[in-house]
Amino acid sequence: MHHFQYKGHDLYAEDVAIKDIVAKIGSPFYVYSQATLERHFRAMDEAFATVSHTICYSMKANSNLAVVKNFVNLGGGVDIVSGGELYRALKAGASPSKVVYSGVGKKDDEIEYALNTGILMFNVESEQELTRISEIANRMGRKAGIAIRVNPDVDPQTHPYITTGLKNAKFGITIDRAIEEYRRAKGLPGIEILGIDCHIGSQLTKVSPFVDAIKKLKNVIGKLKEMGISLTYFDLGGGLGIQYNDEAPPLPADYGSEIIKETKDLGMHLIFEPGRNLVGNAGILVAKTLYIKHRDEKNFIVIDAGMNDLARPALYGSFHGIKPVVKNQDGTITADIVGPICESGDFLAKDREVPMFKQGDLMAFMSAGAYGFAMSSSYNSRPRVAEVMVKGNKFEVIRERETVEDLMKGEKVPSFL
Ligand code: LLP
Repeated sequence: MHHFQYKGHDLYAEDVAIKDIVAKIGSPFYVYSQATLERHFRAMDEAFATVSHTICYSMKANSNLAVVKNFVNLGGGVDIVSGGELYRALKAGASPSKVVYSGVGKKDDEIEYALNTGILMFNVESEQELTRISEIANRMGRKAGIAIRVNPDVDPQTHPYITTGLKNAKFGITIDRAIEEYRRAKGLPGIEILGIDCHIGSQLTKVSPFVDAIKKLKNVIGKLKEMGISLTYFDLGGGLGIQYNDEAPPLPADYGSEIIKETKDLGMHLIFEPGRNLVGNAGILVAKTLYIKHRDEKNFIVIDAGMNDLARPALYGSFHGIKPVVKNQDGTITADIVGPICESGDFLAKDREVPMFKQGDLMAFMSAGAYGFAMSSSYNSRPRVAEVMVKGNKFEVIRERETVEDLMKGEKVPSFL
């Protein structure tokens, strides 16, 4: 459920007509609905209300300060993957004691920064990383709280690029090595063992792969107990999918009850790292029709947003629903919706039947709140688009549209030219 609905012919974000935002700031832009963000966070939080848990928003999905702040206000923690994300999380007011740090390539300065900040724990992704974190913490006279990210070798049945929990993926420590690494961690001077972690993939549309992963990790937890290692936190990662087209992912409440059933006998504090589920359907990308090209074999609708603004269709062949911002078209057209970038991979939809858009018509790409702006770039020297947040009948720009000057920041012509 989201708050992008028609009132008459006009598409609204909550009580704001999208065309009114266009009138004020032009196009293209992303717009997020605060009520939808809040609703999704609460749905996830309430799904686990009966057990001790923390929802650590995976901010890679959408790292705008306002979006992160919104979840912090609701009591959320944050899942980070870089020093940059930690900096943003703190700027947004996140409590370090609710920050978990994932990622296969943590650098020394990032580890130091996280230790100085006092984050809850590092989700350790390799044997060498464990050693490195211990060395750095020890040098700083600290202990680093850790969980080992166990790669459980479970197929999440999603797109291969966002499958992370199969043993041929670069993520985590394989399940057969995990016990040994915990044993080693116990003896390392800079390490305090706090938990266990897994994240098996993104856009999962079934609960069963999560349950399979939990079963495998419970086995590890049991063996650790026998070795005298007891864990406080069970971090189950993110990954719960959303509806883009005709998928029917489980509701947070159903996901919650299955997971609680599998984990309640452990008595551990559960951590979740949802990204897409919280923000995906809370944002849309608004763009304008520039030109329509009719060819014998194909039609193209050229718009003012491209793969640099929304990379998901080009990268994963993913589907985003398309709706007119003002419904005044007659009939439909089947076309590729393409951007201005000089690449044939620059499409936002392929062979899609859409309303008969005319030059100047505005269209909305639905479900673009996750991995939309966050993955955008300035390829072709296209300034990144603005971001807007709506609450009720109010809207504010939460990121200014970039300028060409912004793009050249830090560039310099050398003295020898
Ligand atoms: N935790 C970890 C360790 C992750 O790697 C991810 C996502 C998440 C949590 C959040 O997963 P979510 O709840 O959003 O599924 N760019 C791709 C998605 C990449 C996901 C990367 N990791 C896309 O646009 O579909």
